[in-house]
Amino acid sequence: MSTKATVEKLVSLCKRRGFVFQSSEIYGGIGGFWDYGPLGVELKNNIKQAWWKAVVQERDDVVGQDAAIVMNPTVWRASGHLDTFADPMVDCKECKKRFRADELAGAVPASAHGHEAEAAKVTRCPECGGELTEPRMFNLMFRTYVGPVEDDASTAYLRPETAQGIFVNFANILTTTRKKLPLGIAQIGKAFRNEITPGNFIFRDREFEQMEIEYFVKPGTDEQWHQHWVEERYNWYLGLGMRKENVRVRQLDSEELAHYAKDTYEIEYLFPMGWSELEGIANRTDFDLRRHAEFSGRELEYFDEESGEHIVPYVIEPSAGVDRLLMAFLMDAYDEEEVRGETRVILRLHKDLAPIKVAVLPLSRNEKLVPPAREVWATVRKQWMSQYDDAQSIGRRYRRQDEVGTPLCVTIDFDTLEDKAVTIRERDSMEQVRVPIAGLVDALRERL
Ligand code: GAP
Repeated sequence: MSTKATVEKLVSLCKRRGFVFQSSEIYGGIGGFWDYGPLGVELKNNIKQAWWKAVVQERDDVVGQDAAIVMNPTVWRASGHLDTFADPMVDCKECKKRFRADELAGAVPASAHGHEAEAAKVTRCPECGGELTEPRMFNLMFRTYVGPVEDDASTAYLRPETAQGIFVNFANILTTTRKKLPLGIAQIGKAFRNEITPGNFIFRDREFEQMEIEYFVKPGTDEQWHQHWVEERYNWYLGLGMRKENVRVRQLDSEELAHYAKDTYEIEYLFPMGWSELEGIANRTDFDLRRHAEFSGRELEYFDEESGEHIVPYVIEPSAGVDRLLMAFLMDAYDEEEVRGETRVILRLHKDLAPIKVAVLPLSRNEKLVPPAREVWATVRKQWMSQYDDAQSIGRRYRRQDEVGTPLCVTIDFDTLEDKAVTIRERDSMEQVRVPIAGLVDALRERL
């Protein structure tokens, strides 16, 4: 985290500049749901693209897929979610507020899911001191009905993780791609959890997006591949500019492990509320494939030509939340500095993540400047996400672009009319260079 960032400042910036809005705000909002505005959706797409590029495009052992959100409900019996995907909940008898008992008790970190969390020892409400109810287990899956009849037979669930859509397609993908192990299947998509206490802005939501890989390996090689993915994923964050001092890897204690995991590492970020999970990298063993084979009656095995045996692969699962990453990247990029007696707010976002790559700014709305400025913009926008801004002073427009992390501004001034050149201004250093319009695209590409 930047020392200057707070959750309040980030929420305010996100709202003011169109990154993130409260969902259905005009009706008073709805807890745990958020909407992404014009800049937010760009940033989110850039995060997802950077992930996909690193884990699918640039590798020969991972393929992608996109499964449906609503699945046959037996999936959730097989996966264990119907039985164990629950958190202990307590209510205050006085103020009626609801809490996760494991968080009150401090049994597990606020970022973790207490699938098997212990009952809370805390008996008083942290807000008003009122008496708390006994903890009750609360299943986090959202329920719905498929078709017109609302009964048990038509009950279905919104997926609480994208992972199961991969496990149930394992055989399809193995057959259609004819790939050998190790084989990864990657997916990005929405997940839903009826969290008891959503909060910390977009850190814990009820609707969020996950980027997950199920990496199928031969049993016995799982630990080595687990280490590989921990390193890969940790380096991905640093490669996108996250400050090393704000990211760490932590191996979970045995009592923190989910019901399916033999071993899990978390990549954690130093948020204002403390070190919290960005991504979990679990060794899920053969738990899921065996369970789905048992419940579906289908063979979910791999024929190992080397040993001549059918085996059930083990799975290493790097699983990250897009919304949480977006918050961490913003936190990390946020900076304030004094420039000529004024505070400049900058998002020092990595250029691959920046929502707008180039802003085109005519010095003024003078009628002689507008045509060449529009022409420059027409060229630039074909290459990159860009903005044209001619409102207010040039200084204020630079500040506006700094605040949303735009790496480069291109300024068209009266000299442009003579020398057919423009000024490129760099966000972090504020350095300016003059380049001919004819060479502008190359000059921008070099810098981006
Ligand atoms: N398939 C494994 C799995 O879902 P998880 O640790 O429960 O594991 C993985 O979730 C990631 O999804 C987390 O590291 C986090 O980034 C994100 N995530 C989980 N619950 C979330 C929530 N309620 N809001 C936002 N992101 C969440």
